[in-house]
Amino acid sequence: MSGAEASAKAVARRADAGQRPLLEISELQVTYWRRSLLGLRSGAFHAVRGASLSIHAGETLGLVGESGSGKSSIANAVLGLVPSSGGSIRFADHDLGAMKKGYPPVVRSQIQAVFQDPYSSLNPSMTVEDIVTEPLRVHTTLDRKARRAAAVELLRRVSLSEEHLQRHPHQFSGGQRQRIAIASALALQPKLIVLDEPVSALDVSTQNQIINLLYERRDALGMAYLLIAHDLALVHHIADRIAVMYLGHIVEIGPSERVFKSPAHPYTRALLDAVPLLDPQLQRQRRAARNSAATSDAARVADTGCPYRNRCVHAMPQCARAMPPAYPVPDGGTANCYLLAPTPDATGMPPANGGQRPGSAS
Ligand SMILES: Nc1ncnc2c1ncn2[C@@H]1O[C@H](COP(=O)(O)OP(=O)(O)OP(=O)(O)O)[C@@H](O)[C@H]1O
Ligand SMILES: [Mg+2]
Repeated sequence: MSGAEASAKAVARRADAGQRPLLEISELQVTYWRRSLLGLRSGAFHAVRGASLSIHAGETLGLVGESGSGKSSIANAVLGLVPSSGGSIRFADHDLGAMKKGYPPVVRSQIQAVFQDPYSSLNPSMTVEDIVTEPLRVHTTLDRKARRAAAVELLRRVSLSEEHLQRHPHQFSGGQRQRIAIASALALQPKLIVLDEPVSALDVSTQNQIINLLYERRDALGMAYLLIAHDLALVHHIADRIAVMYLGHIVEIGPSERVFKSPAHPYTRALLDAVPLLDPQLQRQRRAARNSAATSDAARVADTGCPYRNRCVHAMPQCARAMPPAYPVPDGGTANCYLLAPTPDATGMPPANGGQRPGSAS
């Protein structure tokens, strides 16, 4: 059994055993306000519109979706960097949504983050030793010598060494800087790391190295990841489950293999269509399906109903009336699409096609 399979099975066992998730986001809303010159609220932009997801201890949830779909807004709400305007965020025994004045140290030490841009996320005036030991200085009673020893070990784990301790961020490549950021995030052995596009700024071979590093550290230390990316294929290998966002909504969520191989929501299919496949027949099928899709009205935002309906080749009258509920998908997870409705009564359409992708060319 591979490390990934073992990890996925361990997570599934915890979920089956009824263990409460480590992170539980329910009907989360994040709203940004435009303000007038006097600072008064003049208009709302609803970036996250009722998103629910959970992550178990040790689990990796991939959060994917196109630019502007609200991925970072969810991440930043979890990190307490933006306030939620509705719904709840629960982490371990803490109600994070209710903590309007910032998180207590115990929460801050258990949730860490790695961001996209290793050039701006590391303080250029600090040495690597300062960067990696900062969390230990703030949250532990370790003395300087013990912190330095911990930093050496943390650097070793991300394939850097003691000789790097006194250097500054500008002396490193992008990939090395991201290793330093990861070492710092690991310093307190957090329970959850929010990874917001941790490899998007890196070249492809460095991306693979960092993903492998994250994968290896996750399996060694057993923490949970919320891994954000545009690219479903990239998260497919490391995530146990994948959640797909579109215009502030989570439209599909399920086991990574199932979502990747049998995407149930038309938007997930469109997202996957962008991924080159090694199997030429599957690639041809996807291209044919994509070419028949109506995408001309993509820019219109649907305020009621399914957010994807204006781009969806399967759109039906009921898609405009109400957001589809989360229907179970054969082989795991849910998708918010009326094509998955179990009975004709629910949609006015024939029953779901037994787990085949809607509109599949096969
Ligand atoms: N501080 C802000 N003020 C106003 N609008 C914002 C703010 N931050 C984000 N937005 C808007 O909210 C929407 C969601 O943004 P968010 O950064 O969460 O998307 P994302 O999925 O992370 O996108 P990307 O893949 O480009 O990082 C976007 O339309 C964005 O322009
Ligand atoms: Mg983002």
